[in-house]
Amino acid sequence: MELPYYPINDFGPVMKGLVIGGLGIFHVFLAQFAIGGGMLMCYFQWLAAERRHALARQFVSSYFQYLVLFSFVLGALTGVAMWFTTIQLSPRTIGLMVDQFHWIWATEWTFFVVEVVSGYAFYRYSAQLDDRSRMRLLQFYTVAAWGSLFWINGILSWQLTPGTWSIEQPQLWGGFFNASFWPSLLFRTVSSMATAALVACVVINTMPNASRDQRKELINKTANFMIPMVLMPLLGAWYLAVFPDDSRSWVLGGSPAMSLFMGITIGASLLIGCYALIGLFFQKLYINGATATLLCALAFGATAGAEFVREGVRKPYTIRNTLLSNSITPQEVAHLRQIGSVTNDPYPLRGAEQLPTEQLRLGARVYRFQCSICHTPSGVNGLTHLTGSWNGEQKRLMIAQLQMTKPFMPPFAGNAEELEALVQYLEWLSADRPPQWPTRHDPQILQQINEWLIEAGTATAVDKAAGRGPAE
Ligand code: HEC
Repeated sequence: MELPYYPINDFGPVMKGLVIGGLGIFHVFLAQFAIGGGMLMCYFQWLAAERRHALARQFVSSYFQYLVLFSFVLGALTGVAMWFTTIQLSPRTIGLMVDQFHWIWATEWTFFVVEVVSGYAFYRYSAQLDDRSRMRLLQFYTVAAWGSLFWINGILSWQLTPGTWSIEQPQLWGGFFNASFWPSLLFRTVSSMATAALVACVVINTMPNASRDQRKELINKTANFMIPMVLMPLLGAWYLAVFPDDSRSWVLGGSPAMSLFMGITIGASLLIGCYALIGLFFQKLYINGATATLLCALAFGATAGAEFVREGVRKPYTIRNTLLSNSITPQEVAHLRQIGSVTNDPYPLRGAEQLPTEQLRLGARVYRFQCSICHTPSGVNGLTHLTGSWNGEQKRLMIAQLQMTKPFMPPFAGNAEELEALVQYLEWLSADRPPQWPTRHDPQILQQINEWLIEAGTATAVDKAAGRGPAE
């Protein structure tokens, strides 16, 4: 059983998981704008064809320019950037995802291609087309855009709730149509529609030859697209209900960061929803460009919070029960405890010459392999901040029993020498990287670490609490 090692890039004081998460938030927001935008365009094209609003046609053209500019250009750039960062930070996870869902990714890409081609065709030729063809093209665009969400949603929701799929019995459709598939798809569809409508309110304010009354009418029409937001509490509760128990407990208070983000998402969505329903739908208020932009920013905040929670609750896994966050499988932990986690890691350490001893270099490599996806040395979620006030013994115990220290961390997957090297590395960092540092190989300490490691076992906290071995 030889586990694969990959070169892992380093992003300085920014946590690696945060790099993927941060990019993901932008990408999701832009993608949802593209999806909801398509639906909104179809609706306004229909209004135009039925001659229900004088400016509907002009609106479709101006909105589409924003759609192309933002969602095509930035969406494509952040999409490529996502691939580029995930292969540098979590190659084993993305590799397994591509491996298992090969044809589904391919299908998703096909939909994406149709989306881009029909969108570009509309952008380039819509002025020359009659209403029927314009509608056709927009329908193509919309089905393709929503379709790519449909496909990707199955893969992303599978990471948290893998359904009847397992690595031994990889049932493709059982994994794809997993427990969180539908709540996640519906929730995203509703938030796509709301996002598109909010952007529409900004765009309407930029239309040069529309009178205030005409703008107001257009805005009231877009408000229809925010009405489905009343379903959000229900869909959100459904989503939360199908979370694994431990993941749900993080959100409901177990992890202050996640509870806070969840709170921000709910609060921001509630504010937007109330404004849309009471102000725009019932009172038919006008909304100016500045307010509309502010609401868009609020929607971005809501999306950011929701994505943060979605990525966060997967811990300690990137693929539930199959791959831990640090790209080690639950079954490999016991083996790595025997042979050492970085014994076979062939990749050189960046800046190795700045570390005074071999033990510190070992510690740095253990940190890189097992901890760096969620921690930095002294930046975001920095280990020197978290352990700065602890004495050596405390550090050894807490790291040896990592999954019990915080149940969303994976079990420590190395041997006692590696753990001691990691502790020395943390103490050296906390001491401000002095040029000299003693090497410690106290057999009594190593013996104690070993006992703690055995006591903690190799299963995650959830499996351990349920009396199971590593993800049986
Ligand atoms: C899956 C992501 C993840 C991995 C991998 C991970 N950690 Fe953590 N760790 C966290 C999070 C999140 C926290 C919580 C920080 C907080 O409470 O503010 C944390 C907290 C800690 C704490 C503080 C615990 C406390 O009770 O205050 C220590 C110490 C720690 N981690 C050490 C490590 C070490 C050492 C490794 C590698 C062997 C590691 N972690 C791997 C996510 C992770």
